[in-house]
Order: sequence, then C-alpha cells, then structure tokens
Amino acid sequence: MVVELLSWRLLFPHPRRIRFAIISFQGYCPCLSLSWCCSERKTAMSRKLKDVLRGVLTPTELQCLVQSYDVVGDIAIIIIPPELIEKEHFIAAAILSLHKNIKVVAKRDGIYGGEFRTLPLRIIGGEQRKETVHTEDGVRLMLNPETVYFSVRSGTERKRIASLVQAKEEVLVLFSGIGPYPLIIGRANPSCRVVGIEKNPEAHRYALKNLGSNRRITNVRLYQGDVDSVLPALDRKFDRIVMPLPTSAEVFLSVALAALRRQGWLHFYDLQQEGRFEDTVAKIEAACRRDVLQLLSAEIAVCGHCGPRTYRICVDAQIGRISDPPHLKEGQENFKDNQKDNIPLDPQ
Ligand SMILES: C[S@@+](CC[C@H](N)C(=O)[O-])C[C@H]1O[C@@H](n2cnc3c(N)ncnc32)[C@H](O)[C@@H]1O
Repeated sequence: MVVELLSWRLLFPHPRRIRFAIISFQGYCPCLSLSWCCSERKTAMSRKLKDVLRGVLTPTELQCLVQSYDVVGDIAIIIIPPELIEKEHFIAAAILSLHKNIKVVAKRDGIYGGEFRTLPLRIIGGEQRKETVHTEDGVRLMLNPETVYFSVRSGTERKRIASLVQAKEEVLVLFSGIGPYPLIIGRANPSCRVVGIEKNPEAHRYALKNLGSNRRITNVRLYQGDVDSVLPALDRKFDRIVMPLPTSAEVFLSVALAALRRQGWLHFYDLQQEGRFEDTVAKIEAACRRDVLQLLSAEIAVCGHCGPRTYRICVDAQIGRISDPPHLKEGQENFKDNQKDNIPLDPQ
C-alpha cells in the first residue's frame, strides 16, 4: 500500500499540494464481494461467536462463518454465506446470547442498491423490528437500516471531517441521509451553520427526528429533495461542501462548485481502484476547468476498503478562481463572507 501511494505521488507531480492519509483500513470478504470491518474488537467478538457455535456447526461450516458483523443500535447485521443458511437461526441465537445489548439479528439479503443506496435485510433472530437508535459521538440517530442508507463504518471519517471545520463556517452536506454528517459536524462546531440535503423522503424523515431528539444541536437545517434542484434554489454559498455519494457524486460536481465560496473546501467521495486515485482528483480538476475555477490543493484520505484493490476515498480539495494564488492556508480567506446572513428559508 505504501509503495502504491508513493508511486502514485511520483506519477502525478502537479505543483499543487497533494497528500495522502489513510483514515481507516478495512478487511474484505472475498466470498460475497462486500467489505467487512476487521477491528481487533470485532475479531475478538467473532472468535467468541465461533466458540459458541462449535458443536452446532461442523468444522467446515465454521470456516465459512463470516468473521464479523456490524452493530447498528441494537441490531446486529451479519452476512450469512449460502452454505450456512440452514443454520442461520443458530448463528442469530449465538449472537443474542453473547451480547445482551443486541435485540435483533438481521442478515444482509442483497447488496446496497438503487438511488437511495438501501440494503435489503431479513430478520433471523430476536425481536421482529428493524427500527433502532444508534449513538455516534454523542449524537442519537434513529433509523431503519433497511429503508435508509447508514454505515457505522464511516464514523471515523465523519469525525475527521467534523475536525476540519473551522469556527463560523457555513457547511453544506449533500446526500445527508438520516443526518449523521450534519449532526456530528453541528455538534462539534456550535458556531457553524450546517445544511443537509437528502432525496430519500424516509431518510429525511429520520433526519428531522434526529435533529429534534438531539436538542442541543441548533445549528443544522435539513432540506428534502434532489440536490440538482434544491441546491440552486437555496441561492446560497458555503465555505465547505461534503459530498458523501461515492457511487455518483461526480454528476453533482458542477452544482456543488457553483455553491462553494472562493477558496472553499470540497470533500469529494469516490470509489477508486488502487493505483488510480489520481483519476478522482482529475474529475474534480476537469469540473473546475469547465466552471473556470482552479484546484488549489488536494489531499486524499483513504477511508474504506470496498472490494479487491478498490477503496472508498475522499479528496479534500480547496477550490479557487483562476486568479487565486495556490497553497493558501486553510482559513485565510474562507470566512470573509460569513457576516452575510442567509436568506431565511423554510428548511424542513
Ligand atoms: C451513501 S448515502 C450517504 C448518506 C449519509 N451521508 C450517511 O453518511 O449516512 C448517499 C445518500 O444520497 C442520497 N441521494 C442519492 N441521490 C440523491 C440526490 N440526487 N439528491 C439528494 N440525495 C440523494 C441517497 O438517498 C442516500 O441517502
């Protein structure tokens, strides 16, 4: 990996500042083409799961058992390989017996898909419900993990973005889902104003509930609709725009750039093959050129592993006008428009 990153840097010697950061590393489950988190804690959990299931599953079946599972609120979400379908209820019972805080065990019944990036689930143990409340960084998030997108594995990345935000910034989160980015950024940066836009009405409904239940967060506004129409209608500029839609954020680059203040920051997510991270930077650069803008600097954060040699990356890009000097320090000019108040809107 390190060699790969170094060679990438040599192949792409642009004058602007480009740096890498590996935010988190996640393992990969080859049998199902799905990424799977391999933190030490989870590996320990799975070893215990194997211990409980010894005698219930044959040694061959134990080898098929997926090493780990996500926990969203009190719901465990596990992958059941085809070889273990007959035994899935035993696996669910084992998880429930190991973790008293888990009340529902659901299996993935497909893959993330559709415009709203949802994941079909089937309950295989515990209570018959799919709604839960997950807590991340002190923020309570209610959701149904089947009808809305939410990934517990992006928690570290959300925290990273929240830590980059400066005092009094105006931050826009496109594709805001049930609100984790806006709420975590808003909670960590009370002097900022944060706006979220989400198309899935069900996700937006949860986001509003979540905003309401996190009473101390008062600096977040949420809009429902397509970014393509809602954002231009806001007629407003932002210091920082987050674009967490790695499958197709490129389509929305122009509309996002039009809403970014001069020397503002763009956090652009993409799924990219190892050795081709520069292609993502090139997408941003091309969009800048089309809109007579300039990419002043780009840093790449590798935030997830989602297939063989495929990563979820985030480019932290600072964008200026063609005449802007490169390598401006963060915060130097970002906030000069902050005193201009927003046009009052009815956001919800
Ligand atoms: C990968 S999810 C990210 C959700 C959220 N930011 C999170 O981290 O949990 C992408 C989200 O974009 C939403 N979406 C897709 N196309 C959209 C569009 N044109 N306008 C607004 N939201 C859209 C989906 O419904 C989905 O909730």
